Amino acid sequence: MKNNLSCPCKKKSCPRHGDCEACRKHHEESKYKRPVYCDKNISVRKFRKGDESAVSDVICTTLSVSNRKDYSPEFIEENIKSHSPEIIASRAAGSHFYVVLDGRKIIGCGGITGYWGSDTESYLVSVFVLPEYQGRGIGRRIIKTLESDEYFLRAWRTEVGSSLTAVSFYLKMGYNYKNGLTTPDEYGVVRLEKIRNDHFSP
Ligand SMILES: CC(C)(COP(=O)(O)OP(=O)(O)OC[C@H]1O[C@@H](n2cnc3c(N)ncnc32)[C@H](O)[C@@H]1OP(=O)(O)O)[C@@H](O)C(=O)NCCC(=O)NCCS
Repeated sequence: MKNNLSCPCKKKSCPRHGDCEACRKHHEESKYKRPVYCDKNISVRKFRKGDESAVSDVICTTLSVSNRKDYSPEFIEENIKSHSPEIIASRAAGSHFYVVLDGRKIIGCGGITGYWGSDTESYLVSVFVLPEYQGRGIGRRIIKTLESDEYFLRAWRTEVGSSLTAVSFYLKMGYNYKNGLTTPDEYGVVRLEKIRNDHFSP
């Protein structure tokens, strides 16, 4: 995201002000490794009872803004219905589910669970970042969190049913097309997987 005119950083005299790419690079290369100003209040924690409405809002907003360009209005509508607060609460109960916060506001989420109940294969669920927070490394942080979870660590293989919108993101995160198939299945998602080389497959 270049020339971000709404950059909240107070250091307006900085030569990188508003240039997110240059700002992040500068902070990464700095010996002090301080977070960039706009990430100072970003944190990740486990889902708690009571988060379901805010998580549902994040997913439904993201579906209707970010995924809209890749899917029909009917498909988006169906997906919104399947992310109600009740369904989120039950999905969170059946997985290890995390939320990302900006201060106290939930702005992203993602979970991991056993693949069809398996102890040796896992599955990523509901990775979403609100549109206005995308492109700031939050999705990468969610994947890092999920890949530090015991459900990822115990599995030799982790799969994700990626939206068409997120395929390039997962490829960047090291996931590969399952069985070499690059096209969406009957559910409109592309199957990708990460196989851990340090793990023995059955
Ligand atoms: C996919 C999604 C979670 C990525 O979150 P994000 O916070 O924007 O991702 P990040 O900023 O952490 O990006 C990490 C890397 O992936 C790349 N990336 C992210 N989205 C990308 C896209 N759509 N196309 C190409 N590259 C992408 C970034 O450029 C970045 O690469 P870099 O580190 O080399 O610069 C977010 O865009 C989203 O919520 N999309 C809509 C919902 C969705 O489809 N979710 C997946 C459901 S399965």
